[in-house]
Amino acid sequence: MPQGPPADGGTSRSRRSFLRTGSTSVTAAALLTTGAVVSLSGTSATAAAPVSTVAADRRAGRPVALTPACDGHETPAAMEGPLFKPESPPRTDLRTPGVRGVPLDLTGVVYDTGCVPVPGALVEFWQCDQNGDYDVSGFSLRGHQYTTTRGAFTLRTIVPRDYAGRWGVRAPHIHTQVQAPGGPVLITQLYFPDHTQAYGRDFAALNAGDRLINRACTIALAGPDGGRYAGAFDFVIATTAPTP
Ligand SMILES: [Fe+2]
Repeated sequence: MPQGPPADGGTSRSRRSFLRTGSTSVTAAALLTTGAVVSLSGTSATAAAPVSTVAADRRAGRPVALTPACDGHETPAAMEGPLFKPESPPRTDLRTPGVRGVPLDLTGVVYDTGCVPVPGALVEFWQCDQNGDYDVSGFSLRGHQYTTTRGAFTLRTIVPRDYAGRWGVRAPHIHTQVQAPGGPVLITQLYFPDHTQAYGRDFAALNAGDRLINRACTIALAGPDGGRYAGAFDFVIATTAPTP
């Protein structure tokens, strides 16, 4: 049986079964983060907080606004890719020693399709570093956490770099898995706005050239402020497996 987060908020032997229980959530509905309107498989959704609003909040010293209010559409899924590693450590800060790069603080809320925050949801992140390399021998830039009683998560990491791989040149992205207790796993990837500045790379060109990108999964980004970005992304997930 799936189990919720351990009392200490850390990992446990139950985590793997927690992560892998239930079928993978694959839907075509969109949660938007950039103010655009996207239609996927005939389903459309509209964002409520354009990036400019987020940036204004940041400049004014206000907390960065979260991504659009939940509209009940599930966050679109994406391929897991070959570099996921199970049993990542529990941590909210992926900037382990040796990890350099443009700092990114990412916050968000996990909602169910009724737009109710999901406490105790597992949120797993893995990504490449400032050179476009994944740590396949250890757990650098890999980790998982559980959402708070308000469904919130906070991640301290870096902006990843683009890399060339099996699917051509990949725009910078963060791999993510999200799962409510007992629910199906959402596997997706988060992207960066065209205006992102990091590593001297042209994010607009990289995004345009990535054939796997889903702009509906673009992080709302503010900054850089003092050399660091603040990002926001809310997930909307199914909490029960679809009926066969
Ligand atoms: Fe990747």
